Parts: sequence; structure tokens; C-alpha cells
Amino acid sequence: MTDRIESAVEQFRALLTEQLQRAERIQNASSQKDGENKDQTVIGIIDGDGIGPIIMRETCRVLGTLLDDEIRSGNLVLKRIEGLTIEERIKLGKSVPEPVLNEIKACDVLLKGPTATPKGGKMESANVTLRRELDLYANVRPVSIPEEGIDWTFFRENTEGEYVLGSRGIEVEGALCMDFKVTTIGGTERIARAAFDFARKNGKKNVAIVTKANIMKKTDGLFSEICHRIAEEYPEITADDWYVDIMTANLVNPEIRSGFEVFVLPNLYGDIITDEAAQIQGGVGTAGSANIGSRYAMFEAIHGTAPRLIEEGKGEYANPSSLMRAACMMLNHIGKQPYAAKLEKALAEVKHEDTMTVSEYADLILEKIGR
Ligand code: IPM
Ligand code: MG
Repeated sequence: MTDRIESAVEQFRALLTEQLQRAERIQNASSQKDGENKDQTVIGIIDGDGIGPIIMRETCRVLGTLLDDEIRSGNLVLKRIEGLTIEERIKLGKSVPEPVLNEIKACDVLLKGPTATPKGGKMESANVTLRRELDLYANVRPVSIPEEGIDWTFFRENTEGEYVLGSRGIEVEGALCMDFKVTTIGGTERIARAAFDFARKNGKKNVAIVTKANIMKKTDGLFSEICHRIAEEYPEITADDWYVDIMTANLVNPEIRSGFEVFVLPNLYGDIITDEAAQIQGGVGTAGSANIGSRYAMFEAIHGTAPRLIEEGKGEYANPSSLMRAACMMLNHIGKQPYAAKLEKALAEVKHEDTMTVSEYADLILEKIGR
């Protein structure tokens, strides 16, 4: 018994040491952006698994046409990155193999299809690894339903919370398992600042801080406290606390949901609530997702690899609009707003039907773009 406790305590000591070092790194990081004002932006393209290669194929076809001038002049480079398939990752026993990570780090931004994660076992999700390795701390997910006056933007903390030690919980064999949730002061400050800055720049009047601080008193308590402290720098914006359970209910309540504007949430609640929000917009196939850090940024579809569609041989009927929306967010991020606006407009005008193939949908988008 004592041996088992001792071994668990040793593991915990190592985790705590590492997390304190991470917290220190965040506190000391400069907020300086590098890589700005470059003549060339390199966009890494990662297909992913399942429906990933199919929806990426058509998204790249659309981007190739839309960005033709920029690509020809060398301003933009679309660079394929191979080797991040589930087969390769299992073979090497690495969530993101080293050579792939190096190639990724040589790019400025990434457009990524969904990547599969084995359930259980020790292998971390490639998404979680990339978010951590590239320090992509803000997961920004917009959801809009103009006819209902809904224009939501979610700022999900993306590098800590329930995820940072998600594959490194402790097991006391035959007795219990424990996972850990980590909230740091610096990690919360930077996501809160991202949310309030966005609200200010976009004329939004309120930010909803979503936690379960009545139960997760330490971690969520700190998250809420820090968000309120940052809110003091934005006196024109109201900051309200909401518990995540009632927020899930509020989002399906048409009486009140259009009153929300910006949300800031710890990692796991952000994961769950943004799927709900995307479903309200029309399905998880419709929402894009941006993972932003101070050096790198990665843009992806909000949904997974859709293994069922592939098993049924219906991969060509997947909806690529989530990945195309992610591409719009990427274009905005790299300063190519006019192209982003053109694609956004086309996406708003072409309604996806379940009977359409991915190429048929892309053809309609290309027609709207008019080239
Ligand atoms: C998402 C996904 C990921 C997450 C998975 C694939 C690890 O659900 O981006 O929301 O849980 O963050
Ligand atoms: Mg998710």
C-alpha cells in the first residue's frame, strides 16, 4: 500500500515541477509577435485522417483558384506536409513524429484536416500535442446565425485545463485513477486578454465567463477571478459569470441566446460548448476553428474524422464547409481579408445538401467566387 502511494506521489511531484516550469515560461514570454511583415507566408497543409484528405483536396482546389495571383507571385506558398496519418503515428508510437513537427515549425500557419486519436492507451491526440508544442493558447470558434441575430465568438483556453495532463493521469492499480486539471495565472490572463481585446475591437458589449467554479473551486475559481481582473482594463465591456451547465441550457433557449456575444472558457468546457454551438448553427460540419499563439497559428475544422462516413463508403459526401470556414479565418489572420471575405460570402450563399459530393459543393463555391 505505502509503495503504491509513494510511487503515485513521485509521479505527482514530477508533474507539478513540470507544470510550475510551464507557468513560469508563460509569465516570462514576451508578447512580441515575430514573423510579421514577411514577404512570403508559408501555409502548411495537413490532410488528417478519415474524411480529412477528401475535404482538404477540395478546400485546396478552392484556395488554389482564389489565391492564384498570390501563389504565382510567391506571396503565399501552400506546402503539403505528409506523415501525420494515424497509421504512421501508431507505427512510430508518436502523436506527432519529430520530422513532421520540424516541417510544421518551418511554416507560418497551418491548415489541418481532422486527425484520429486512439481511445485509451497512452498516445496523446495530435491536436493536443500541436497546440502545446506551438503554444496555440487561444482556440477561437465563431458561430453565427444572422436570421436569429446570433453572432457568437468562443475563446476556449487551448493549452492547459483538463487537457494538459490528460494522458498523464495517475493510476493506483486495482484501486483508482486520477486525472488533473491545471489552471495557471499567465495561461488564464492571455486567453482572457484575447477575448476582451476581440470584444473591444469588434464593438461587443459583453463577455460571458463560463466555468463550474462552484464545484471546481481552485482551478475554475482562479479562471473566473483572473478574467474579472483583466475585465477591469475594459470598463466598456460587461463581464458576467455563468456556470457551464446552465450555459448549455441557455444556448438552446431562443429567448435569451442572441444576447450572448463573446465567451471565454477553460479547455474542456470550451470543447463541449463549441460543438453544441456549431450544431445550433447547422451542424459541426459548418464551423471553423482557429488555434492562435503568438508565433504560430493553426486552422482546422471543428469536427472529427467521421469514421462512420468512411466505413459506409460515403466519404465523398462529407461537408467541407467547416474546413473552408477555417480557411477564411486563416486568410483573415494572415492579412488577406479581401480573399477571406470573398470565400465567406460564397460559403454563406451556397447551402450544403447531404446529397452533394464534396467536389460538387466546391464547384458551386468556385462558381460564386467567379473564377
Ligand atoms: C476539438 C476536438 C479535439 C479536442 C480532439 C480531436 C482532441 O474535439 O478540436 O474540439 O477535444 O480539443
Ligand atoms: Mg471538440
